[in-house]
Amino acid sequence: MFQVNIGMIGGGTVGSGVFHHLQNNRALLQSRLGLKISLSRVAVKALDEPRPYPIPRSVMSTDWTAVVNDPGIQVIIELVGGTTLARTMILTALRLGKPVITANKALLFEHGPELFAAARQFGTNLYYEASVAGGIPIIKALREGFVGNRITHLYGIVNGTCNYILTRMKLEGLDFAPTLKEAQRLGYAEADPSLDIGGSDSEHKIGILASLAHGFWVAPGEMHVEGIRSIGRADMEFAAKLGYTIKLLGVVKLVSGDKGGKRTVIQASVYPALIPNAHVLASVNYVYNAVLVRGDVVGDTLFYGRGAGKDATASAVLSDIADAALDLKHGSRGRIPPFVARGPAGRVLPIREVVSRYYLRLDVVDKPGTLAKISSILAALRIGISSVIQPEGHEGESVPLILMCHDAPNAAMEAALAKIGRLPVVKSTPVMLRVEDFG
Ligand code: HSE
Repeated sequence: MFQVNIGMIGGGTVGSGVFHHLQNNRALLQSRLGLKISLSRVAVKALDEPRPYPIPRSVMSTDWTAVVNDPGIQVIIELVGGTTLARTMILTALRLGKPVITANKALLFEHGPELFAAARQFGTNLYYEASVAGGIPIIKALREGFVGNRITHLYGIVNGTCNYILTRMKLEGLDFAPTLKEAQRLGYAEADPSLDIGGSDSEHKIGILASLAHGFWVAPGEMHVEGIRSIGRADMEFAAKLGYTIKLLGVVKLVSGDKGGKRTVIQASVYPALIPNAHVLASVNYVYNAVLVRGDVVGDTLFYGRGAGKDATASAVLSDIADAALDLKHGSRGRIPPFVARGPAGRVLPIREVVSRYYLRLDVVDKPGTLAKISSILAALRIGISSVIQPEGHEGESVPLILMCHDAPNAAMEAALAKIGRLPVVKSTPVMLRVEDFG
């Protein structure tokens, strides 16, 4: 029977999960694929580092080069993370013509074009199902399942740590800091959790999905990214009063082009957004991720599952192991290629030109004329107000003022906020969140 020998670099949380689940489900996988799989070598940082599932000493070493260069190893799994050594490891394997499986979203986001070019040049493949949304097979769905669709909209809740924090803040009225600590304890957060809460982890994942959906690589710096640091309990409560839930949302919309050879223009951004409670994404809670994909043929589709952790991510790696093994057996590299650039290269719309609805929370002095001053600034910039909440205070006291605003370009809202922030009756920096109604 055809046999595929795999070497893995990284034996931490995800790596030990892959090892464990491959041992448990190997017979199932082999019978489904009609071939034999052996994960025979694992390169680790330290033999004794703590890991959630054990890896036998006999397969471990601390020399990744020996694993990659071993002529008996045909497939390399990279699970070390980071963008420096991991890049060298992957390029070394690809240059040897060995297919590589990676969960490394940051590396793909920063160096995707180089890595896919290397895979093409050396006649092999790079598989990356585990890089986005953990166990949800969203890469395969976009690449294969929707191959006949033009993707008009994609919305993603793709950071488990942020979703966990926002969910507990909403449902239990908790504060940000202790909830982040709990997410770290549970192993959801990145080694540097500012990547989660600052939005970069979502940027990497949404950037990969946007690139795959639209056929041009979205470069670092092109997307507008905001994290969740500015969200307070007050915002959770006011959003709830207005019928909304706050989620860190990746938004990819086809703005124009993608027909008749015109240059594709997309919105690709990550920001905390108010979404209507009635929308299904509002019920995606705790560490769960979800991706909504709207195709011009299929309409709306929804993918839901665990986006982080040793088991969900291992499931995605197992799927890539199956693809890599079958591609080796049948020589079917490039059946549906991992990434194909479709010319002419597209463009990401600057956020200033994106049109949104808005939620504003201002801290204002409760005295006659305050609302008039604020609404005249908005009116001058052609921003309409759709509703206002102001809890009763006493004259002269500082109180929250919540405004919901109609569609307007982000540039207009930016200008309005600069002016509003300078009013003497406004006591702290305004909080602005966008509202997404999925229309
Ligand atoms: N830190 C990430 C998250 C892990 O919280 O979703 C999975 O990429």
